[in-house]
Amino acid sequence: MSDTGLRLGVNIDHVATVRNARGGGYPDPLRAAKLAEEAGADGITAHLREDRRHISDADIDGLMDVLSVPLNFEMAATDEMQKIALRHKPHAVCIVPEKREERTTEGGLEVAREENKLAHFIAPLREAGCRVSIFIAADRKQIEAAHRIGAEVIELHTGAYCDAHAEGRMDEAARELESLREMSAFAHSLGLEVHAGHGLTYDTVKPVAAFPEVMELNIGHFLIGEAIFLGLTPAIKEMRRLMDEARG
Ligand code: PXP
Repeated sequence: MSDTGLRLGVNIDHVATVRNARGGGYPDPLRAAKLAEEAGADGITAHLREDRRHISDADIDGLMDVLSVPLNFEMAATDEMQKIALRHKPHAVCIVPEKREERTTEGGLEVAREENKLAHFIAPLREAGCRVSIFIAADRKQIEAAHRIGAEVIELHTGAYCDAHAEGRMDEAARELESLREMSAFAHSLGLEVHAGHGLTYDTVKPVAAFPEVMELNIGHFLIGEAIFLGLTPAIKEMRRLMDEARG
């Protein structure tokens, strides 16, 4: 880990997306995960979606076997996923909302409305020793609910900030960033560990990496895309450099 204390989790889902476009085994997400590890990733993130559109059950088996860094297992709050998580007991479980028709995880989890259900859902995961993280919007109500249900970590959804930035809506990007900043501090004040991710790029990572409460960034799609041009190792190293520079 860099001595800034800010961890980088590399999400390898989209290596599996490319593999699945043709079937077969190439490119191998496990090879990408090992390379990411060597390039300085502090953890590997993989989302086993209900429709298995990218990561497969066999990928999760393989990651549990080969990784030396922690696996952050992203999953929906379903019985099937809970069973899989309890079988593997990964270092971390991140609960995300999931809709079949979406292209990617579009919003944060609605914790406030599902408080009881989620509290029961995460209890066995915590008892099994997994660090439970809840993927939510930068919204005070959701953060308070995540705290009440016993989550140890929240991951703030940076998608709205990144989308506004990419589309040149800079006032909106600045407002989204300000909410992320305020809500990172608020969550930290409740004793929650704060992570962030979704849509981050070289252009958007630094202001988020600079928040002192943020302990981990999870980044995937941009890095796998950039690996086409730079190679995976240099793409990850550049992200790490920007994070360290921002935190420095
Ligand atoms: N964090 C969470 C909880 C996610 O669901 C995702 C996307 O799978 C990411 C981070 C990474 O987002 P991206 O692939 O856009 O970098």
